Amino acid sequence: MNENSHLLPFSKNACDVYHRQRRYYSYLPSCRITITILCICFFLVLTNKHFQGIQSTTTIPIISSSSTLDYNNENKYIHSGSVFLDTQNKPINAHGGGFLFYNNTYYWYGEIKVGETYLPISNEEWGGTRVDLTGISCYSSTDLLHWRYNGNVLPAVTNDTEHDLYIDKVAERPKVVYNEQTNKFVMWLHIDSMDYKRARSGVAISDRPEGPFTYRHSFRPNNQMARDLTIFVDDDTRAYLFYSSEDNAAIHVSELSDDYLSTKGNYSRIFVGRYMEAPTVFKKDGAYYFIGSGCTAWKPNAARSAVSYKSIFGPWKELGNPARGLDANTTFHSQSTYVLPVVGDSSSERFIFIADIWNEMNLSDSRYVWLLISFEEERPTIHWHDEWSPS
Ligand code: DGJ
Repeated sequence: MNENSHLLPFSKNACDVYHRQRRYYSYLPSCRITITILCICFFLVLTNKHFQGIQSTTTIPIISSSSTLDYNNENKYIHSGSVFLDTQNKPINAHGGGFLFYNNTYYWYGEIKVGETYLPISNEEWGGTRVDLTGISCYSSTDLLHWRYNGNVLPAVTNDTEHDLYIDKVAERPKVVYNEQTNKFVMWLHIDSMDYKRARSGVAISDRPEGPFTYRHSFRPNNQMARDLTIFVDDDTRAYLFYSSEDNAAIHVSELSDDYLSTKGNYSRIFVGRYMEAPTVFKKDGAYYFIGSGCTAWKPNAARSAVSYKSIFGPWKELGNPARGLDANTTFHSQSTYVLPVVGDSSSERFIFIADIWNEMNLSDSRYVWLLISFEEERPTIHWHDEWSPS
């Protein structure tokens, strides 16, 4: 969404005319590429046949995507920007992800982006391309390198056009937390209509971290608009929902009920007028840190960071862009989604900045950035590393 998104016309009949509204954004360019490749192959086949009698060793070159080869299960390193493969050598499909550490295992939940990318007419002005909703994936790992696919744990609904999870809807940025009192795993996610005007938070629940999750409902916390979100669970087990509200102009911090299934009613407005999305929150040495982004739809921008020493409700002090070096102005072409605290062998806590490299023309080819956060005095900073080891 962009800063002027509230000025966009609201298409009430988005669902009814859903199929007529689809504008294939990636179809024409990919069509042209396919035709070009077919022509080249056809030419090479002809040339090969022509020369077979003369030069029997002529071969047709194989067109391959080397980027899919630079991260594999033998690898001990994380390579941001490459295709991350799961333990079945399939690309990890978990965008806008959230992480849970439970029983010595990391769980990674994310949006499944598959199928054609298209631009609904209602989103033309701000470039809100999309793929049809498929569901939320879950992967698990004990070393942050080898990820086992546990399936689509919150599948889209195909037979009820009014359902929050119907294929023409939006379900983004899933975050899962474990509630010790109820022994349940609770997923929060951004639920929306195709044109992003409903702006709600959704809740799903499971007895197991591997899912499946049962969808409960969506609502506007404190009757306020809610889009990009994250959940932070504090040391005292109190949990807080951070969400982009007021048409993205402000972030709201809202305490969750003891069972984590709803909001309690107390909340604060932070970063008012700053138009932030993609919130992430973590705690270090008693201080709360925030890393988020500006609002430029799928296009990357300079990340924002902030600290609050007294309370999670604020006052929050902005600390500027935490990214450093080449491509810092686009956060290495990515947008934040989670900061994962990791306790290493040395017992020293490390924080991994996890972000999405969105491919707005072909969302299914969106990639990930995983980089360590370091601290320059009070400031979280993020430097690019081609590869690094999480162990
Ligand atoms: C930016 C948000 O951060 C994403 O989660 C997604 O909603 C896109 N906008 C849609 O354009």
